[in-house]
Amino acid sequence: MYKRIAAILLSVTGVSLCFGQQADGCPPVLETRDGVRVTTIREWERIRRPEILELFATQMYGVDPGTKVKTSYRVLEEDARALGGKATRRQVRMTFAANGMERTADMLLYIPNGVRRPVPVIVGLNFQGNYATTSDPAVLMTDRWVPYPKGINRPADSLRGRAASRWPYERAVERGYAVATIFNGDFFSDRREGYDGSVLPMLYAGSTVPDSARMKAVGAWAWGLSRAVDYFEKARELDARRIVLLGHSRLGKAALWAGASDPRFSVVVSNDSGSTGAALARNKRGENVERINRNFPYWFADNYKKYNDNEFALPVDQHLLLALVAPRPLYVGSASRDQWADPAGEFGAARLCGDAYRLYGLRPLEWKGEGLPPVNTPLQKGDVAYHLREGKHDITLYDWERYMDFADKYFK
Ligand code: GCU
Repeated sequence: MYKRIAAILLSVTGVSLCFGQQADGCPPVLETRDGVRVTTIREWERIRRPEILELFATQMYGVDPGTKVKTSYRVLEEDARALGGKATRRQVRMTFAANGMERTADMLLYIPNGVRRPVPVIVGLNFQGNYATTSDPAVLMTDRWVPYPKGINRPADSLRGRAASRWPYERAVERGYAVATIFNGDFFSDRREGYDGSVLPMLYAGSTVPDSARMKAVGAWAWGLSRAVDYFEKARELDARRIVLLGHSRLGKAALWAGASDPRFSVVVSNDSGSTGAALARNKRGENVERINRNFPYWFADNYKKYNDNEFALPVDQHLLLALVAPRPLYVGSASRDQWADPAGEFGAARLCGDAYRLYGLRPLEWKGEGLPPVNTPLQKGDVAYHLREGKHDITLYDWERYMDFADKYFK
């Protein structure tokens, strides 16, 4: 009762006490829903962690029915002289078959040459097709619906490399990382009509998962990220024990969910993932649950709509999503002019997830100052890292360099 009144007061005033180190109003990391304190790694892994995972699956991202999928790989193209000879470019078609249906996804890879292999790999989905991530003319164009050019939605040569600033392949390769990307539309086309062509009809055929708890776009994207790991486990040049998962914005939401649910990702990076990503819903700044469900009704499980204008009824908040990444290193990046993604809410969640890291004897995010750290001042001493890049909603070379600095700590 007491808690309920506090929750109402908080939601009316719009003030949240979730961040700082006080977690008032936010569900605690180390306490089950029944109020049982969790004090050991074993209890966390056997009781609380599965409880949280299940809540995010049923209430937010959707339940993976665990369908057995037969996957095959075909190298469509490979060239050892890419990026001026620094890398091998490879394009792999993955074909997934289940329940009499088939879907494909094309992975673009740049693998550093002349270094000891296997190499660590950075993986992330892209928004516009692989061909938009680089001006490299050998990168194959997708024949799927793409968001640009608007209204045409077919890839155009003039849009090659349109998102290249977000994919500094050459720099990553110089730093010893392979980079892999897949168009998100290969798993679920980012629009209201996306379901039929997505991987979901294939995965849910004959499934008993209730409609309200089924995955939509973000769940399908996360599923796809795990399929990339399946490939890394087979590719000799790549080190499947050193995988950095990185996602920006809506694809950062998908990356966090994939990183939370699939422990094969070694380092998880959220860049400007905002609402239903790293940002605390209870902070109620920027985009809220109602807005995201209204504008993107095809992203999350239908159950999530129960929390429209009702954030305090959520049995979880996003710090618990981050806590699921523990004990693996986690990096949350925000941008100063990205209020829509709520940097304070992202920072708050990154701090609050620390209890899970402490349990493993690891270092949470430390910050003794008031409010957010200054711009371009990465906090990377602990196993949960954070930075507030100066500038707008985007992923830039600055962000990539910081994420690679962080991953280097663990991989070198
Ligand atoms: C919109 C949406 C965000 C999302 C962003 C993006 O702004 O409201 O939730 O993160 O698009 O993907 O760039």
